[in-house]
Amino acid sequence: QVNEAEAVVFNIPSYACQRRTALDNHNTVLTFVSQDALSLLAENAELSDEDGRGVAFRRAAAVLKALPEPVTGMTQLRGLPCLGGHSLRVIKDILEDGASGEVELTKESERFKALKVLTGIFGVGVKTAERWIREQIHSLQQLQDSGQTLNRAQQAGLEHYDDLNQPVTKAEADAIGEIVREAVMSVLPGAQITVIGGFRRGKLTGHDVDFLVTHPEEGREVGLMPKVVSWLESQFSALQGFLLYQKTTRNSYLESKDGPARPASNMDRFERCFSIFKLPEEETRGTKQTETLTENTPEDTCSLAANWQVKGGEQMKPAGHKAWRAVRVDLVVSPISQFAFALLGWTGSKLFERELRRWAGHEKAMSLSSHALYDNKQSRYLRATSEEEIFAHLGLDYIPPSERNA
Ligand code: GTP
Ligand code: MN
Ligand code: MN
Repeated sequence: QVNEAEAVVFNIPSYACQRRTALDNHNTVLTFVSQDALSLLAENAELSDEDGRGVAFRRAAAVLKALPEPVTGMTQLRGLPCLGGHSLRVIKDILEDGASGEVELTKESERFKALKVLTGIFGVGVKTAERWIREQIHSLQQLQDSGQTLNRAQQAGLEHYDDLNQPVTKAEADAIGEIVREAVMSVLPGAQITVIGGFRRGKLTGHDVDFLVTHPEEGREVGLMPKVVSWLESQFSALQGFLLYQKTTRNSYLESKDGPARPASNMDRFERCFSIFKLPEEETRGTKQTETLTENTPEDTCSLAANWQVKGGEQMKPAGHKAWRAVRVDLVVSPISQFAFALLGWTGSKLFERELRRWAGHEKAMSLSSHALYDNKQSRYLRATSEEEIFAHLGLDYIPPSERNA
């Protein structure tokens, strides 16, 4: 009995939003490797349309991230939340053999590799990737040869595949920020622009750059995005603007209709723009990374790059020396009255957000979205002008963005 009690070394609260998760918390080889292994199994589940399993592995990985000390034995994991039998088995294998057979098999499976390559194309989701795989399309080359019809997003995604699969650096994010600031200020002076997503959490790289725009005078922000897009499209050069792709959506939020009646979900209804920026190289010279994290073979990328170099009318420039690079950018516009909720909802991490909503619903009988917080017991909205106030409404200690890296 005494030994058992002593064995429980870590006291980790069960919801990720109750914990502080800094970026560098995986302080041992074991937790780092296991966390990585569990994240890979989560990814595999998500790519197989098994979201429930995916979340379970994400939660387990996040618990390892939050451990304050090295793990040396399985007994230390006793009593920890979110570690199910499957996750514990994987950790045990890594602890005892240095690797998990299941993870290694998954990593090497043709299906997993194909799903990663295909969903790595901007605009391609799991459903589409699965359909292509059923039609024997496993690589970018095979996709290109197949003559499949691609929508506008997918065409842009394929065309800029290499750029978009290369992590965005902080320097590039800052350069994009300058361009966005200039665009927004030109069309709506007095607007406020905030970096959200991973870069707000202090990450040094990201898969995109996310911005939240608001204006201190409620209503002034309405219809901002189409004007910003026009500005961006008219700049950079006489021939081409800053945008390689953009899809703008209008705000469709109605408090009475969408608030408490709807389940709190990840989907929100802000005016927004999903885009691909054309970032001039000189903006970030010297900081460009050469490392690519794509899964496709070198032959794949070479032939594709060569192909599109010609297609894009860039045949005068030697391959790999174009003067710009494609970067995914998300722009979200919020009315000032919803700003704190939008900020909290778009800062992430994805798991942290999911856990906040689960905490609100299960523990507090409240519905949290990126627009509002509704108290089901009091049947009323709880106002907030800062993230701190929202945490307080939820009965949670305030966690700063840099510690939301669950
Ligand atoms: P990297 O971009 O990979 O560095 O990570 P990230 O944390 O920035 O992820 P991402 O850009 O995908 O999303 C940023 C945050 O916005 C996350 O917390 C997401 O949950 C949130 N988010 C992304 N898409 C949506 C959406 O459609 N609606 C809402 N409400 N939130 C979203
Ligand atoms: Mn992001
Ligand atoms: Mn994003």
